[in-house]
Amino acid sequence: MRLSALILAAVADAVVLARCDSAPKIDEDGRYTISAPGIKAQFIPYGATLTNLFVKDKNGEDIDVVLGYDDVDYYPVDPGHPVYNAIPGCYAGRIGKARYTIDGVTYETERNDGENTLHSGTNNWSFRYWNVTAYTADSITFSLLDESESSKGFPGRVEANVTYSVTNNTWHIKMTAHSLDNKTPILLTQHTYFNLDAYRNPATSLIWNHTLALPYSPRYLEADDAALPTGKILTAAANSINDFHSAGHEGRPLGHSRHLPQFAGNCGGGGMCEGYNGYWLFDDIPETKDGEERPVVVVLSSEFSGVKAELRTDQPGVVVYTCNWMNGSAKLKSTQGLEGRDTVGRSSCIAIEAQEWPDGINHPEWGRLEKQIFGPGQRYSWESSWTFSA
Ligand SMILES: *[C@@H]1O[C@H](CO)[C@@H](O)[C@H](O)[C@H]1NC(C)=O
Ligand SMILES: *[C@@H]1O[C@H](CO)[C@@H](O)[C@H](O)[C@H]1NC(C)=O
Ligand SMILES: *[C@@H]1O[C@H](CO)[C@@H](O)[C@H](O)[C@H]1NC(C)=O
Ligand SMILES: *[C@@H]1O[C@H](CO)[C@@H](O)[C@H](O)[C@H]1NC(C)=O
Ligand SMILES: *[C@@H]1O[C@H](CO)[C@@H](O)[C@H](O)[C@H]1NC(C)=O
Ligand SMILES: *[C@@H]1O[C@H](CO)[C@@H](O)[C@H](O)[C@H]1NC(C)=O
Repeated sequence: MRLSALILAAVADAVVLARCDSAPKIDEDGRYTISAPGIKAQFIPYGATLTNLFVKDKNGEDIDVVLGYDDVDYYPVDPGHPVYNAIPGCYAGRIGKARYTIDGVTYETERNDGENTLHSGTNNWSFRYWNVTAYTADSITFSLLDESESSKGFPGRVEANVTYSVTNNTWHIKMTAHSLDNKTPILLTQHTYFNLDAYRNPATSLIWNHTLALPYSPRYLEADDAALPTGKILTAAANSINDFHSAGHEGRPLGHSRHLPQFAGNCGGGGMCEGYNGYWLFDDIPETKDGEERPVVVVLSSEFSGVKAELRTDQPGVVVYTCNWMNGSAKLKSTQGLEGRDTVGRSSCIAIEAQEWPDGINHPEWGRLEKQIFGPGQRYSWESSWTFSA
């Protein structure tokens, strides 16, 4: 049986839970669609993954601005597993030296990224078939029950919900989780990959002419050659290679420092990782009252399509990764690309992941422990939205 047929069978019961009178449809290939004016988003239960996101470009055309595959059966077997728009968990990003300590007990996690752990190791959440527990025309909820030790070195039995919804030009994401028994690390993100030109800019498929603004992020975490934070917090001087702050909401082209020799190894990999794979902090965010919109903390835009994407979040910082490790082996979706361009080339996309400080469980000096370790009765929550305009 095709995998998609299995997924359909597995979710058939769950979908009955949706209390919408005109129950929305699931495509024959297993995609769930939600929509609102100016936006249409599609998802699959595998990894609670966003497969397609259509927004209006400057000509009023609907373009698909996130990476993914046409064939939903390919996500589980893709050897690269780039965590395309999925939810890695229960601890996203790296854990240094594959270990951490809670209350004097040291837990060893899986070394699946050199000496370190990436995205919690084997059986991480981006590899699970989540349950669909609610589905309406403009919102969908995925739920997961993660048994204790299902990923090596995570002692908690964790329950999590992810709700995606859309309103006028905006994609909203809300996650909640709790550990039902033991104290355990929880750090989640939506690992969204964008190319705001849908790979249709005839002049370039590279991401360097997209503009990025991190208006509240003068500071970032120093990382070692394996993209693991060293513990040091650095401040980017105006116009230096890691500065996306000094130009405010206007931002700077991602390739502003492409001509500098250090650009070729700016994200490590023994000098082989060009561009960016790091964490920027949000500092001095203006206070907002209940019900008031949070400030925009990340702006990504492209002149070619005219699309602008603005992130609001309750998280304290963001991982920015410019797809250095893509090598042209993954196919583009049929909604993207041009004649003669149908694969995801190196440095042709950008992942933007709002989250807690990476490896904060190993850096008590940062003061993040109570935001990253959760025991019974404590609730983890995460909330972001992307607003699109042209
Ligand atoms: C390209 O990346 C994929 C996924 O990581 C990997 O399976 C493949 O071996 C790589 N190909 C080359 C030529 O490096
Ligand atoms: C996540 O778990 C799967 C197995 O379930 C494993 O193949 C994969 O390498 C893991 N991903 C990462 C990034 O560790
Ligand atoms: C989905 O729900 C079923 C029934 O409650 C449960 O047994 C299963 O573990 C859930 N799947 C996931 C991935 O949490
Ligand atoms: C929808 O968004 C557009 C552009 O952002 C705005 O002009 C319009 O007033 C919004 N409509 C509603 C109902 O919020
Ligand atoms: C997840 O949602 C279910 C209802 O669908 C609820 O019972 C549970 O408490 C929620 N868990 C979290 C961690 O929010
Ligand atoms: C990218 O932007 C630079 C200026 O920042 C410009 O010189 C160049 O022509 C642009 N390239 C493409 C392919 O749009």
